[in-house]
Amino acid sequence: MSDWNERNHQALMNTYGRLPLVIERGEGAELIDEDGKRYLDFITGLAVNILGHSHPDIVQTLRDQGEKFLHISNLYVNKPAVELAERLIQETFPGRVFYTNSGAEATEAVVKLIHKWTKTQEQRDGIVVMKKSFHGRTLGALKLTRQPGVYQDFPVSDFPVYDVEPHDLEALETILREEKPAALLMEPVLGSGGVLPLEASYIEKAAALCETYGVLFCMDEIQTGIGRTGELFAYQHTAVQPDVVLFAKGIGGGLPLGGIIVKEAHKDLFKPGDHGTTFAPSPLSSALGNTVLKLLLDDGVLAAGKRASKILLDGLDDLKKEHADKIESIRGLGMMLGVVTKLEPKSVKLIQHKLLERGMLVDVTQQTIIRLLPPLIVSDEQIHYFLNLFNEVLQEVNE
Ligand SMILES: Cc1ncc(COP(=O)(O)O)c(C=O)c1O
Repeated sequence: MSDWNERNHQALMNTYGRLPLVIERGEGAELIDEDGKRYLDFITGLAVNILGHSHPDIVQTLRDQGEKFLHISNLYVNKPAVELAERLIQETFPGRVFYTNSGAEATEAVVKLIHKWTKTQEQRDGIVVMKKSFHGRTLGALKLTRQPGVYQDFPVSDFPVYDVEPHDLEALETILREEKPAALLMEPVLGSGGVLPLEASYIEKAAALCETYGVLFCMDEIQTGIGRTGELFAYQHTAVQPDVVLFAKGIGGGLPLGGIIVKEAHKDLFKPGDHGTTFAPSPLSSALGNTVLKLLLDDGVLAAGKRASKILLDGLDDLKKEHADKIESIRGLGMMLGVVTKLEPKSVKLIQHKLLERGMLVDVTQQTIIRLLPPLIVSDEQIHYFLNLFNEVLQEVNE
């Protein structure tokens, strides 16, 4: 065992609750540590590695684009980024794309866009979010992130933010009518807020309310997007068409890339100079984005992931019946699933730890919810391997 954990501790600021794993490489749905031990990865870099690790087409794209250019700035036309924007628009709705490097930056971009839009409206200002939302950790995004563990006492920009309980339409309508906010921003499945899928009927009614009150309807698909829930974007499980969609995480095939897709009607809200960044869109990340979308949409990975998700969900439902004393419910969509436990946080940590020892990586959110974010390329055999291990570990943990 090397001293990488200690070196990490000595050299990096202490902001992450890290697992003591030193990763050497990844292969498909597995990560391999420095001692050659294999781990089945159901965290996928927090919902990034939708295609698993080292996918041959991703590696090939890295080589091909790497040999051309890595960075050129926004002073010139960046072909991979144009292609990617065209595809994103084609797969969503007519509009335009603005690129960022990360999810939080996509949120910052939407805050600025909403502010621009506010100026075109009379007496509308502010943004409505869901309680337990997560939209990022930069100062603007932080103001929209409603989690006690994340929301900290930093100075934040001065714009009104209102929060409502998910699924409480009455509360939403009251705020839209009385406070006159400019926009609603929602995650279709609240991710770190507890893997809570919003019901399609709620999303549709919320969108209709936005229409009635003249409020921008913005979907944070940073975690749910790029095939994670079984459609390219989770809003596509419903009948709504948002004004703005935020994306990041999976799009860059493992490299940083994010952005917003803005409906045609709002495409001119940003004028030259209103927003920008040096790095985004990275030509390399964009080229990877094109490969990611090709694999998902043209080569059947999205459909395969949907099928795999059903097997996983059926298996989890069986485990829920068998461990009704420990599992409250299974929820989520596609490859974004939460096992809501009835256990104490320390028992849930123990489950995570025992799974890790046996070569299985799962995440925990809201202390008692086991979050599963498998890659879409996971095999049936790997799913059954996980289900067996999980069953074994659930049997061992007694409060
Ligand atoms: C729904 C959602 N929005 C925004 C973010 C922030 O993205 P990033 O970590 O890339 O800044 C995340 C990250 O987990 C997220 O899940």
